Amino acid sequence: MQKTVVVTGGAGFIGSHVCKELSRAGYLPVVFDNLSNGHRESVRWGPLTVGDVADAEALLTAFKVHSPHAVIHLAGYIAAGESVEDPAKYYGNNLRTTLMLLEVMRETKVSKIVFSSSAAVYGTPDGIPIKETAPMLPTNPYGHTKLMSEQMLRDHSNCGISSISLRYFNAAGADPDGELGERHEPETHLIPLVLETAAGLRSHVDVFGDHYPTPDGTCIRDYIHVSDLARAHVLALKRLENADGAMAFNLGNGNGFSVLDVISAAEQVTGRNVPVVIRDPRPGDPVTLVADATRARAELDWRQEFGDLEIQIRHAWNWHLRTAGIRTLRPARNRRAEVEPRIATN
Ligand SMILES: NC(=O)c1ccc[n+]([C@@H]2O[C@H](COP(=O)([O-])OP(=O)(O)OC[C@H]3O[C@@H](n4cnc5c(N)ncnc54)[C@H](O)[C@@H]3O)[C@@H](O)[C@H]2O)c1
Repeated sequence: MQKTVVVTGGAGFIGSHVCKELSRAGYLPVVFDNLSNGHRESVRWGPLTVGDVADAEALLTAFKVHSPHAVIHLAGYIAAGESVEDPAKYYGNNLRTTLMLLEVMRETKVSKIVFSSSAAVYGTPDGIPIKETAPMLPTNPYGHTKLMSEQMLRDHSNCGISSISLRYFNAAGADPDGELGERHEPETHLIPLVLETAAGLRSHVDVFGDHYPTPDGTCIRDYIHVSDLARAHVLALKRLENADGAMAFNLGNGNGFSVLDVISAAEQVTGRNVPVVIRDPRPGDPVTLVADATRARAELDWRQEFGDLEIQIRHAWNWHLRTAGIRTLRPARNRRAEVEPRIATN
C-alpha cells in the first residue's frame, strides 16, 4: 500500500519539489499549507489541506483523515533579515509549528519526521567547509528558530519520535522538467532576483558589500539544486525506517560561488545584462558559507546531480521564461539605456 507523508509547507518552493520526488518514489504526499507564501497550483502530486500548522485541531483532523506514515516539516517563514526586524513573527510561527506538529504526532502515534533546518544554525563559521560538528551560534532569530526546533526534535527522541534535520545551504534552480520553480513574495534570494533583473522586471541587483576578504570582494555562498535537495528528503525518510534518534545532515554543493560569480553566470545563461548597485554590507552576513556534505553522502547515500551553477541557473531561467509575467518583458537591449550599470554607493 502507498505510504502517505504529510508535507507541511508543501505548496512552497522546496516543498513542492519534495512532493514531486516523494511521488516518484511511490509515496503519497499530503500537503498541509496555509498558502501564506505557497501556491495552490504547485500542489500536484497529492491532496492539499489548507490550514495553519499552529492550529492543533486542523492538524489533528488532517492526521486522522490521512493516517500518515511520516511527516516532512518545511512550513515556516524564511527571511533572515526580516527576522531581525520582527523576531516575534519568526519565534511565533517557526516554533509554534514545530511544537504543534510534535504534539499531534505523539497523539496520533506518528513517529518519523524530517525537518527543514538551515545553514543559519551555524552563524559565522570558524572554518570552511562547515561540518555538522561545527559550533552552532546563529546570528539572527531565524537561525535561532531552526536551532530551537532541532532541539525540540532531539528532546522528543525520548518520546519515540525519530527525526532527521536537514541543514540546507542555499536552495537554487528549479524542476528540470519546468513544472515547478521559485516564487517568493517578496523575493529575497539572489538567483531569482538576478533572473528577474535579467528579465527586465527589476532595474538592478543590490550587492551588499564588495570589500570582503574574497577574490572579488563579495560574499561566497553554497548553492544546491532544489531537486537534489528534494531527493535527500526521500533518502532521509528511508533512513528513518531503520534508525531511531535525532540526526542532522548538511546539504550543500561543497563549492562556493561569490555574488558576482552568480551574476556573471546568469549573464552567460540568459545572454542579458544584469546591472548591480553596491550597497553597504549587511550586519552579521558571514563572508563565506560552504557545506561539507560528506555525512549525507556516506549515511544517506545522497548524490548531487546538478552541482553545476550554470545548470542550476538554466533550470531556474527556463522556469522563469515559462511563467506568464516574463513573457511581457521588454527586450534587454531597450533596458541598457535606462539603468546605470555597476554604480558604487560606498
Ligand atoms: N530556500 C532556501 O534556500 C532555504 C534554506 C534553508 C532552509 N530553508 C527552509 O526550508 C523551508 C522551505 O523554504 P522555501 O524556500 O520553500 O520557502 P517557501 O516560503 O516557499 O515555503 C514555505 C511554505 O510554508 C507555508 N507556511 C508558512 N507558515 C505556515 C504555517 N504556519 N502553516 C502552514 N503553512 C505555512 C507557506 O505558505 C509556504 O508554502 C523553510 O522552513 C525554510 O526555512 C530554506
